Amino acid sequence: MSRSVEPPRVLNIEDLRRAAKRRLPRVVFDYVDGGAEDELTLRANCRAFQAVTFQPRCAVATPACDLRITVLDTPLSMPLILAPVGSSRLIYPRGEEAAARAAGAAGIAYALSTLSGCHLEDVAATSKAPVWYQLYLVGGRDCALSAIERAKAAGFSALVVTIDTAVAGMRERDLRNGVKELLSGNLWSMLPFVSQLLTKPRWLAGFIADGGLMKFPNVVVPGKGPMLYADVTAALEQSVVTWEDLKWIGQAWNGRIVIKGIHTSDDARRAVDAGASALVVSNHGGRQLDGVAPTLRILPEVVASVGDRIEILFDGGIRRGSDIIKALCLGARAVMVGRAYAYGLGAAGGLGVARAIEILRTDLVRTLKLLGCAYIAELDRSYVDVPTDWPVP
Ligand code: GLV
Repeated sequence: MSRSVEPPRVLNIEDLRRAAKRRLPRVVFDYVDGGAEDELTLRANCRAFQAVTFQPRCAVATPACDLRITVLDTPLSMPLILAPVGSSRLIYPRGEEAAARAAGAAGIAYALSTLSGCHLEDVAATSKAPVWYQLYLVGGRDCALSAIERAKAAGFSALVVTIDTAVAGMRERDLRNGVKELLSGNLWSMLPFVSQLLTKPRWLAGFIADGGLMKFPNVVVPGKGPMLYADVTAALEQSVVTWEDLKWIGQAWNGRIVIKGIHTSDDARRAVDAGASALVVSNHGGRQLDGVAPTLRILPEVVASVGDRIEILFDGGIRRGSDIIKALCLGARAVMVGRAYAYGLGAAGGLGVARAIEILRTDLVRTLKLLGCAYIAELDRSYVDVPTDWPVP
């Protein structure tokens, strides 16, 4: 393990965040760290975990805690899945491959974003565990159909359809850091913003050696080739996924579909009606519509409305294994983490991702022991107290 992410220097995800901040240019760090508008939802996602408290059973022996679960009928070593994180290749050279490899080594699933810099075939080949492909409709239907075919052929076992991105959220940090200018190709416009790249020579050397600004090799626009980085914001605006689209997507994929971006029990029921095998209660880590409720608060009502008909996954604000346990107690089958591992990727590539997974794994075991619960599958509402003003069914 690289010294930079070893204990005692790195004990928790916040330590990885600080290490990522040291290695990454501001524009890249803030892309990972930031959220939409006032970042109310981003902060609320994290704070919601503080409001839920544990009810441990003490003096209970739990010699070997079993973290294994199944998601979509596939065994995972623990209830953790690496969420799709766009532009991981900007965070670290061949970032998507590094993250998928670390997930595979830990026996957990990795979801590859459409907006990735590595070929989906290469990513699938690096992981020993299940890989899922996340779909945006950027580039249009034909482009999506060809990605779906490629993902099927490469062995991706589920298609994650993100439904909360009718347009990119207003990420003000990105704009202030000069994302538009840096992508403009106009040296004069770029000039005021390049110093943030030059002051991070380790990142810069890796970025240049990795081929410079990534394209999107899995978004191959017919007649044009891989989508350029600068084109993605406009492309997202033209690519809203609707419930109607889920019909042709389902036919083309002909396999397990996970619908990500469920904010309400109404949409959860639509996901069931659309034939999805799983849904993710997610507000995109507070990166899309600011001002929506934290996901942990939504989770119990979604579980109550459709929990017997579909597998319920969760993301948003997870920074510790104890957060994962709280989500599981409120009915999630497993959780996805985005920033928690992206900080590790930014700090030290695959080693940092492995360290993030290890931190969460050891947190899970310790928390289970302290709760007096030997099996992750036995967690339920009786282990937590939920604030009385939450909409708990
Ligand atoms: C992409 O999905 C992002 O949130 O940046």
